[in-house]
Amino acid sequence: MLRPRLRRPTATIASGLAALAAGGLVALAFAGCGVVTPGPVSTVGKVDFDRPLAIPPLAESTVDADGVRAFSLEARAGTTEFEPGVPSETWGFDGDYLGPTLVAERGERVRVDVSNSLDEPTTVHWHGMHLPAEMDGGPHQVVEPGAHWSPSWAIDQPAATLWYHPHPHGETETHVARGLAGLFLLHDERERALGLPSEYGVDDVPVIVQDTGFSAEGRLEGAQRGYAGGLGDELIVNGTRSPFLEVHDELVRLRLLNASTARSYAFTWSDGRPMRQIASDGGLLEASVDLDRLRLSPGERAEVLLRVEPGERVVLQSRMTPEIAGLVGPVAATNGGDDAFDVLEVRAAATLDLASPVPAVLNEIADFDETQIAADRRFELNDSFEINGRAMDMGRIDEQVTVDTLERWTVVNDTALPHSFHVHDVQFRLASIDGAPPPPELAGWKDTIFVEPGREYVLLMRFEDYADPDTPYMYHCHLLWHEDQGMMGQFAVVEPGPRATMPEETHHEH
Ligand code: C2O
Ligand code: CU
Ligand code: CU
Repeated sequence: MLRPRLRRPTATIASGLAALAAGGLVALAFAGCGVVTPGPVSTVGKVDFDRPLAIPPLAESTVDADGVRAFSLEARAGTTEFEPGVPSETWGFDGDYLGPTLVAERGERVRVDVSNSLDEPTTVHWHGMHLPAEMDGGPHQVVEPGAHWSPSWAIDQPAATLWYHPHPHGETETHVARGLAGLFLLHDERERALGLPSEYGVDDVPVIVQDTGFSAEGRLEGAQRGYAGGLGDELIVNGTRSPFLEVHDELVRLRLLNASTARSYAFTWSDGRPMRQIASDGGLLEASVDLDRLRLSPGERAEVLLRVEPGERVVLQSRMTPEIAGLVGPVAATNGGDDAFDVLEVRAAATLDLASPVPAVLNEIADFDETQIAADRRFELNDSFEINGRAMDMGRIDEQVTVDTLERWTVVNDTALPHSFHVHDVQFRLASIDGAPPPPELAGWKDTIFVEPGREYVLLMRFEDYADPDTPYMYHCHLLWHEDQGMMGQFAVVEPGPRATMPEETHHEH
């Protein structure tokens, strides 16, 4: 558990705005906002690491006569003892907090039988998955209390660490913060041939990071509202407070998911060894990249490799800086820009199983042919939680995309604070940031990016296979409170219509 108790004083929104003004920055528009957290907060050196890291169970599945792999997930309310003997009310899938890890293979057809035992509507969205809009689990695929929903689709994308979470319109932050989230891992032949650590929970370990707050007794209190959304002063990993992970292999693969609603992390190892990143949101990078800090905004994933010596201990930390957060002036401290956390202690056993060498080339990712761009779109995020001056409207389709074409989306953060940008259905490539090529850790497949204040990000993506004029997909800020406030829009993927007089597109393999 954590010692001593950390509790940040709270200030009014007015003093937060004063801080913004003092920083010479534009004040934000707020809708129904409570308090801000002055910060900064640090738990470094204050976490005891006295609880074994919980590993979400693997979801059971059956393969039916048609070869469809069928899972089931029940969203339900429960209680979780983050502190023994101190129950907190939480939500989970098939359990009290978080949900099981689904695993499927490229080429398989899957179905998930979702049921809702909550007393309010929810949805289950498959974040990062390429699938028909009707199966996407966005705000239009509502599952009413007591109802069932059985989306089914073919897995046709590279091995990756994806995840699932609710997406009910205006309520996403609450549903995720209460515990509704889980991993969806995809495998394929190419990944298997690399011989990477792959024993789930042993040398291939999920690390779902969330920030929250606890009372002195250890009851879940949740986060305090800041400009980014809810920022908690303590972390839990896979729902475990104060976690350690004992490993028996010299090489360990950690699958990091930032399942926090608002907080971004800058992951690092306590002894300064590099974070060796091998995969981003949508799959393996072409080669591993060694990072001093690995930045993950809400919704993003990264796979890293950790090599350990017998008996050693090393702590995964997050050490954010204003620079990494893209923040300047006093606004940094109030938005998590100076916060530091002890996240997870890794303890190596006295004897370790040897690992096979990691190949230098992990993946081949062909660049998109930019001469094939069929449409250019621009998305401006503003201080009123709008995109292109409009708040999300369930009844309005903002963009129409022609199926099987390449598009270029330019995302501009016109605010003084960081946001993120997530696109459903596709994995995209980052073509440039302010005109410069992306760093190697952002050069692979992505579905969510951290969007620094004042910067411009150019994304390339192909919308393949599934057209449905009636059911839109979403793009939005993945700071969930911002999303809930309206920083979201809808796009429909449609068959080429009468206006589509462009020459027929050639179909490119990723
Ligand atoms: Cu992870 Cu539209 O969300
Ligand atoms: Cu998504
Ligand atoms: Cu945002």
